[in-house]
Amino acid sequence: MEETIQRAAEIISKSKHLIALTGAGISVESGIPDFRSSGGLWEKYDPMVYAHIDSFRRSPEMVWEMIFEMVGMTKQAKPNTAHSALAELEKMGLLKAIITQNIDNLHQEAGSRNVIEYHGNAHVLQCLRCNAEYSIDEYPDDGTIPKCRSCNEILKPGVVFFGEIIPEDALMESQMLAGSSDAILVVGTSAVVYPASNIPYMAKQNRAAVIEMNLEHTGLTGSITDVFIEGSAGITLPKLVEQVKALIG
Ligand code: APR
Repeated sequence: MEETIQRAAEIISKSKHLIALTGAGISVESGIPDFRSSGGLWEKYDPMVYAHIDSFRRSPEMVWEMIFEMVGMTKQAKPNTAHSALAELEKMGLLKAIITQNIDNLHQEAGSRNVIEYHGNAHVLQCLRCNAEYSIDEYPDDGTIPKCRSCNEILKPGVVFFGEIIPEDALMESQMLAGSSDAILVVGTSAVVYPASNIPYMAKQNRAAVIEMNLEHTGLTGSITDVFIEGSAGITLPKLVEQVKALIG
């Protein structure tokens, strides 16, 4: 691992447009299970049954059962050393933005300022009938399914369900960032969900160096990844930042 961290640190210390793409794996050490590892959320809930917009329209009460569990897990979670390491890279002026697939707000809580929430966030509630929007804080945290105050429709959390489009601003900004990056850190994602999984390829098309940090290889590793750093992000990312600091003095 040390040699790969050294190589990644050299790339980062010379980069001018470093971005990061993060997935659920970066929050596992904060106590939030990811989706596709063993014990992940999709082992308990079939995503096509519980996380598809058509399911929500058909039976919102059933989907809210999974949402309450998912949001419940993020409530107690605190940022871990991986989130803090990325916030530090941003403070050092090296990391320009984080594109996250996560909805747990932990990058922001760790101090990262330029965070693009590619799959929305769970703090907003939307009415699919009259388009009203509310903050989740406007509703009691007692397991009651939130309803629209104008038309009484069951509200949907502001997260992107399967079958929904990525928020336009997040999509455009991410494409612009990837297309102008010279290095991308891909942390804790299986890179199987499109279009987020396309972001590293867009960076590579711009000749960016792809640095992947994961417990296991993904579809990227054998194709566009230049440096693969194996291990828990909570351990490897702080080591990487320390190495970058040593290089830039
Ligand atoms: N450190 C680094 N990587 C880790 C760690 C860790 N401590 N723990 C798990 N991982 C890796 C796993 O090996 C896996 O490759 O993180 C990845 C998590 O993959 P997924 O569970 O598929 O999560 P993610 O890639 O974020 O899923 C993308 O799918 O269901 C949708 O909307 C959901 O945003 C999510 C999207």
